[in-house]
Amino acid sequence: MSSVIRTQDLCIEYDVSERGLFFTKRHRILRAIVDVSLEFRTDEIVGIVGESGCGKSTLGGSLAGMVPKATGSATLNDREIEEFARNDKVDFSRQVQMIFQHPRGSLNPVLTGRATLFEVLRRLPDVKDHAARVSELCEQVGLSEDLLDRRPAQLSGGQCQRLSIARALAMEPKFLICDESIAALDVSIQAQIINLLSDLSRSLGMGIIFISHDLNAIRHFCDRVVVLYLGRVVELGPTSEVLTDPRHPYTKALGRAIPNIGEFALPDPELTGEIPSPIDRPSGCALAARCPVAEARCRSAVPPHTTEGNRAFACIHT
Ligand SMILES: Nc1ncnc2c1ncn2[C@@H]1O[C@H](COP(=O)(O)OP(=O)(O)OP(=O)(O)O)[C@@H](O)[C@H]1O
Ligand SMILES: [Mg+2]
Repeated sequence: MSSVIRTQDLCIEYDVSERGLFFTKRHRILRAIVDVSLEFRTDEIVGIVGESGCGKSTLGGSLAGMVPKATGSATLNDREIEEFARNDKVDFSRQVQMIFQHPRGSLNPVLTGRATLFEVLRRLPDVKDHAARVSELCEQVGLSEDLLDRRPAQLSGGQCQRLSIARALAMEPKFLICDESIAALDVSIQAQIINLLSDLSRSLGMGIIFISHDLNAIRHFCDRVVVLYLGRVVELGPTSEVLTDPRHPYTKALGRAIPNIGEFALPDPELTGEIPSPIDRPSGCALAARCPVAEARCRSAVPPHTTEGNRAFACIHT
């Protein structure tokens, strides 16, 4: 059965209240994800891009059942992810796996590669021949089996990332969420890992949600891209269309930051100023204070999403 992850008006908040003198408390809520409605399928690789602090990891963590929501919903095959991950941990981890930026830090430092994979396979009663499955996983991720007797500190960054991908694949997930998973690697190794993930996605029918601030990686790798700004989706669509004909001023500005992205049309002046605080969110469009085309009505109401075919953008000027 093909799987689908859906979010509907998903909002995620962090309590960042500050303690003052004499047991006083200043209540403050940080709205990290606001009204996000998205769909992810197993036959595609979807990039999530945006500046630091825009909510990428929060969204990814929530889809992996690790970050609770405030309101709205996030479901996997119509079942609430939060409840699923809490009550059926092993079943859920056979559906959704996550890999992180620093593979060495996410691997147990005292376990060899082999012990790392065996530890996962122990939890899967239907896998009988663990040694054969370990060989298969090594082949899938291009990791020499000789390296499995080493601990993470004795492996290179690329080898560690291949091991964490093998650990995730051991569960045969329907979705793999990659949070900046290539950012800490050398450029040549980044390309190898991207090619590996792309091949695995197609051969295993596994959906990939690829969180990155690197539009260059996204343009070569992702079928669709979602652009986040201050916790909201400002643009989404097929990568080739969004990157050759960006419609939202923020997407245009993101492209500007990338040298050699040639295809980008850059008719508008650059954005100015700083990204606002997600604690004191501005009314209206969150980009308005920085946007060269903003006008009074942009500051009074959040722009609705305009849909054009399989694209959508939240700007009244598009
Ligand atoms: N555990 C937490 N407690 C309080 N605030 C948090 C927490 N985690 C994240 N935030 C805040 O939520 C917002 C979104 O953070 P998030 O880590 O999701 O952003 P990001 O897009 O992944 O950034 P980066 O590109 O730097 O990884 C930020 O303002 C961040 O400071
Ligand atoms: Mg992050």
